[in-house]
Amino acid sequence: MHRTTCSSTIEYSNSGFEGEVPLKGGGILSGFYRKGVDERIEILKEISGLGEEDIRRLKEGLTIETANVMVENVVGMFQLPLGIATNLKVNDRDYLVPMATEEASVVAAASHAAKLALPEGFKASSTRPVVRGQVQVIGLDDLEASSLRILAAREGLIREANQFAGSLPNMGGGVIDLKVKTFERPRRMLVAEFYIDCRDAMGANAVNTVVEGIAPRIEDLTGGRSLLRILSNLTTERMARSSVVYRRDVIGDEIIEGIIAAYDFAIADPYRAATHNKGIMNGITAATIATGNDSRAVEAGAHAYAALSGRYLPLSKWRRDNKENLVGELELPLALGTVGGATRVHPVAQTALKILGVSGAGELAEVVCSVGLAQNFAALRALVSEGIQKGHMRLHSKNVAIMAGAVGGEIDRVARIMVAEGNVRASRAKEILDEIRGSPSG
Ligand code: MEV
Repeated sequence: MHRTTCSSTIEYSNSGFEGEVPLKGGGILSGFYRKGVDERIEILKEISGLGEEDIRRLKEGLTIETANVMVENVVGMFQLPLGIATNLKVNDRDYLVPMATEEASVVAAASHAAKLALPEGFKASSTRPVVRGQVQVIGLDDLEASSLRILAAREGLIREANQFAGSLPNMGGGVIDLKVKTFERPRRMLVAEFYIDCRDAMGANAVNTVVEGIAPRIEDLTGGRSLLRILSNLTTERMARSSVVYRRDVIGDEIIEGIIAAYDFAIADPYRAATHNKGIMNGITAATIATGNDSRAVEAGAHAYAALSGRYLPLSKWRRDNKENLVGELELPLALGTVGGATRVHPVAQTALKILGVSGAGELAEVVCSVGLAQNFAALRALVSEGIQKGHMRLHSKNVAIMAGAVGGEIDRVARIMVAEGNVRASRAKEILDEIRGSPSG
């Protein structure tokens, strides 16, 4: 609970967003969005205990030297804004969530939806962090006999595979199971699947090392040739779940009815389900990137899971409870790490993890899953009421002002005028800018 028990110099209230129903129950960071960047960083210093090094990382970002060892042929940096979603409470603990995204309104929407869920917030859980690694074996005549040979050697193979699992077995993880499956079509093949508890790592390196290491033993046993030796990103053993109740007296019947009808649309039509899930991934991907995790792996797993029944479905579910409140649930495979990979190499990811203050990969997955659910709620709520363009354009108006050449105080001025006129366009921004610059006070 380090967020709510922190220094009294930080103001907490119920008024982070204008025009909302006031909620009881503390933990809301008041008007974070209205502060300047330096003020926000000062607040983070107190709440999350950021030191000078963290602040330098936030301001400086990734250096070219570090970038040059992360990938090949580096020529520069592609940066994304890092925002902080506020008000998120998961399992009775308050979190500030770093989100890296290029899309206006994602951070504000997550914060708003998280706030409307207070004081209870989100209830989340995660499974053991098990990821499967697959060894594809081809050139076999008798799939059944090969399967039986592998299964007969199962215990020994798990022991041997653990020799490639680095420190995981000593940390309570490592290879815990081995299964075999076979396919006749589109070609005859056997797949040996090693189940590996990756502890706090995302696990791609660990899993790939294990399957590459153990594959020759599978070849010896079967007489076949191992071809692919790689993890599966559809981590159905490594799941995160989150649920939330939005009270009827807070959000109103019309919104509840609308969200359930929107959910029905997503069940009925994969074209809508894709966009519904994109709204969820707006939150999940932004937090995944901010923490230095592999967003492509998470996206691949999420969408494959959405289609696992043979039909592409919404990842979340929305219904009424017996008190007519709105209940949301989200479940998806979520392989996120707090150690290893870019989480430790990228300087901003390290600070992001510090801001989150999670104890390990399970807690990170629970928080990120809750962000996804909050994001989904925010999108549906906007879609079934005023539509998303109004809020989106309000936030996007500053981008448009900058694109038209506005600088410093001009940005807010131009943006405000465009929003008031309901005309957020580059051509109008240019006109306003010319007017401002031409005017005596401009
Ligand atoms: C936009 O980034 C996300 C939405 O399209 C999601 C949705 O339609 O549910 C608003």
